[in-house]
Amino acid sequence: MSDAVRYSREGAIGLIQVVNPPVNALSQAVRAGLSAAFQQGANDPEAKVLVIYGDGRTFIAGADIREFGKPPQPPALGTVIGEIETCSKPTVAAIHGTALGGGLEVALGCLFRVAIPGAKVGLPEVKLGIIPGAGGTQRLPRVAGVTAALEMITSGRHVPVEEAADLGIVDAIIDTKDVKAAGIAFAQRVIAEGLTALPVRDRDGKLAEARADRSVFADARKKLEKSARGLFSPFRCVDAVEAAVDLPIDDGLKRERELFQQCMESPQRAAQIHVFFGEREVAKVPGMSKDITARPVNKAAVIGAGTMGGGIAMCFANAGIPVTVVETAQDALDRGLNRVRSNYDISAKRGRMTPDDVEARMALITPSLDLADLHDADLIIEAVFESLDVKKEVFAKLDKIAKPGAVLATNTSYLDVDAIAAMTSRPADVLGMHFFSPANVMRLLEVVRGAKTDDDALRTALEVGRKFGKVAVVSGVCDGFIGNRMLRTYKTQMDYLLEDGALPQEIDAAITGFGFPMGLYAMGDLAGLDIGYMTRRREDATRPADARYVAIADRLYEKGRLGQKTGAGWYRYEDGRTPIPDPEVDAIILEESQKKGINRRPFTVDEIQTRALCALVNEGAKVLGEGIALRPVDIDMVWLFGYGFPSWEGGPMFWADRRGLAKVLADIRGFADHDPKSWVPAPLLVELAEAGKTFKEWSDAR
Ligand SMILES: NC(=O)c1ccc[n+]([C@@H]2O[C@H](COP(=O)([O-])OP(=O)(O)OC[C@H]3O[C@@H](n4cnc5c(N)ncnc54)[C@H](O)[C@@H]3O)[C@@H](O)[C@H]2O)c1
Repeated sequence: MSDAVRYSREGAIGLIQVVNPPVNALSQAVRAGLSAAFQQGANDPEAKVLVIYGDGRTFIAGADIREFGKPPQPPALGTVIGEIETCSKPTVAAIHGTALGGGLEVALGCLFRVAIPGAKVGLPEVKLGIIPGAGGTQRLPRVAGVTAALEMITSGRHVPVEEAADLGIVDAIIDTKDVKAAGIAFAQRVIAEGLTALPVRDRDGKLAEARADRSVFADARKKLEKSARGLFSPFRCVDAVEAAVDLPIDDGLKRERELFQQCMESPQRAAQIHVFFGEREVAKVPGMSKDITARPVNKAAVIGAGTMGGGIAMCFANAGIPVTVVETAQDALDRGLNRVRSNYDISAKRGRMTPDDVEARMALITPSLDLADLHDADLIIEAVFESLDVKKEVFAKLDKIAKPGAVLATNTSYLDVDAIAAMTSRPADVLGMHFFSPANVMRLLEVVRGAKTDDDALRTALEVGRKFGKVAVVSGVCDGFIGNRMLRTYKTQMDYLLEDGALPQEIDAAITGFGFPMGLYAMGDLAGLDIGYMTRRREDATRPADARYVAIADRLYEKGRLGQKTGAGWYRYEDGRTPIPDPEVDAIILEESQKKGINRRPFTVDEIQTRALCALVNEGAKVLGEGIALRPVDIDMVWLFGYGFPSWEGGPMFWADRRGLAKVLADIRGFADHDPKSWVPAPLLVELAEAGKTFKEWSDAR
C-alpha cells in the first residue's frame, strides 16, 4: 500500500488515515491508497466498522493541484468513491479542518459523516470553472436537499460544521479536538447501538420536493443570470443537480461526468484557474524576503469621513480593529458616521448581521475633530480631497503627531505618493493604499510602494488588506497607478471613437457584450461627470497644444448633466438608475464631430471591443515594462477585482496571451497607421510579439 494512506486497527475498528501533507490532497497515490485501504478493511476479519480521517491539520481539502492539466491517472476518484460506497462494512468519515471538493465527495461516499468543531465542508469546483465531478452533484442533494445543494454547489461556499449538521450533511458533531477519537467514538456507537443508514446513493426522500415542484431549478438559473452572467460552469452545476432529481443515480453520475467534461473543454476553465491562483499569487512580492513581517496593527485611523473614508473605517470595524475617524468639521463628521451606520443598518435589515453586530462595529469607530487623537494609531489612512496641496499639508502635520513606526498611507487615486512622503521625515513609513468605491465592498486594494517605502511597511499594508478580505496588489508610483492609468488610456480611445462615429450606447453595449457588468459611459454617470471635468481643467495648463482633445464630456458638464445624481449625463434617467440613450447627447456628439470636420463612420461591436482591449493591453505592457506592475497577473487581478473585467476572460494580459501577442500588436499597428500619436506600441509588447512569446512566459522566466 502507498504511504499516503495507512490502514491500522484498534479493537473492532479499522482506521484509514490519509497522510499527504499539507492538505491531504487527492493525488494518484491517495486515490490508489484509499482503494487498497478500504479493500484491506473489508477483508480484515476483526474490523467491524471502517473510519477514514486525515492526518495533520485537515481532512481531504480537495484535488491535487499538481495534477491539474495533466492526463488523468487511474484510479479515477469516482471509481474509488463507488468502492467505498459499496463496501461490505459500515464506513465513517471523521472530518476536521476542511472537507472540500473531492474531499467532501469521499465523505459522501461513506455511510456516516461526523465532524469536530471548526470543520467546514464545501464543493468549491465552480470557482475553478468546473463542476464537482466525482458524484458531489448527485449525492449532496440526497443528504442536504435540492435547494441547499444548488446554493452550495453554485456558490462554492465553505459551509461551517453547525450548518452542515443542520442540513444533514454531517450526522454528528463530536466535541473534541481529536478527530481520530471522534471517529472511533462514533464507530463504537455504530457497533453498540447497531446504527444503520442507507448508502447515500439509495436515499431518495430529499429529492421528492423538487421532483414535485421544479421551480427550484428555474429560480436557481434566474439568480445566476444576475450573479454569474456569462459564466458557463454555474449553469452546468444546476443541470447536474437537476439530473440527480430526474435520473437513477448511475445515469445521474454519467450525466455529471458529461457536464464535467464540457466544463473541462470550455475556454473559461483555464481563465478561471488563472484567476483562482492569481488571487493568491499577488500576495507574494518577488524579491521580498520571507523574514519580513508585518508591523502589528491594533489601532487604526482614517482621515476624512467622505465617500472613501467612511468605507475604509467600515473595513477596519469589520476586521475588529478599533479606528479613529478625523474630520475638519462636526457636520462632515456626523454625515460620514451616519452614512456608515445606515450602511450597517441596511445589512442588518437584509439579515447579513444582527443589530448587536451593528452596535459592536459602530463602537469600534471613534469620531474626532482633532488630528492629535491619532498619536497612538499603528496605521493611518488619509482619504481627504484629491488635492496634492491638501494631502501634503495633512502629511506634514501627521509627521509631528504619529508615533514612531506608524504606517502612513494615502488613498489618493492619481497623485504622487513620493511627493506626499517627502513632506514627512519618515518616507520609509509612507505608502499608498488605494481602495475602490464602495471601499467596504470592492475587493481590490492597490498598495502603492513609494521609492523609499520599507518592505515591512509594505507587508503591513498587504496584511491589512488580507484581513479585510481584499485582493491586495502592489503597484509602483505613476499617474493613476496600475488600474486608473490603464483606464485613462482606454477611456481616451473610446472618446475618440465617439467623435469618429460611435455613440455612448453602442460603445457600452460592446463593452457589456464582452462581459463587463457595466459600460464605460454608464459607469461615468454613476461616478459623476464633475470629477473628470475638474481633472481636465487642472490639466489644461500642461496639456500639449497639439494633443487631440475631445470636448464632448465638457459640453455635457456645462449643460448641468453631471450623471445619475442630476438625472442626466451620458444618458438620461427616469428612475434614477437605468440609463436611457438620449437624442440630445447624440446631437452634441454629432456637433462636436462636425466642428472638427470628422466624417463619422459606423463601428462594429468587434471593432469597438478590439480597440478597448488593445488600449488596455498596450498600456498594461507599458506598466509592466516600467516595473510599475510586478507581473502580468497583478494587472489581471487589478482589472478583475477593481473594474469588473469578466473572470472567464482571465484579465487583459491573459486575454492578450490567449489571442496571441503578434495579433494584438498587428491590430495596434493598424490603429497607429491612422493615429500614430495615441497608438505607440509598448516596447515590451513588440519584444515579446516578435520573439513569439507570451507575457506569462516572460514573467515566469524572470
Ligand atoms: N470616490 C472614489 O470613487 C474614490 C476611489 C478611490 C480613491 N479615492 C480617493 O479618496 C480620497 C477621498 O475621496 P472621497 O471620494 O472620499 O472624497 P469626499 O469629498 O467624499 O471626502 C473627503 C472628505 O475629507 C474631508 N477632509 C478634507 N480635508 C480634510 C482634512 N484636512 N482633515 C480631515 N478631513 C478632511 C472632507 O471634509 C470630506 O468629508 C481622494 O484622494 C480620492 O481621489 C476616491
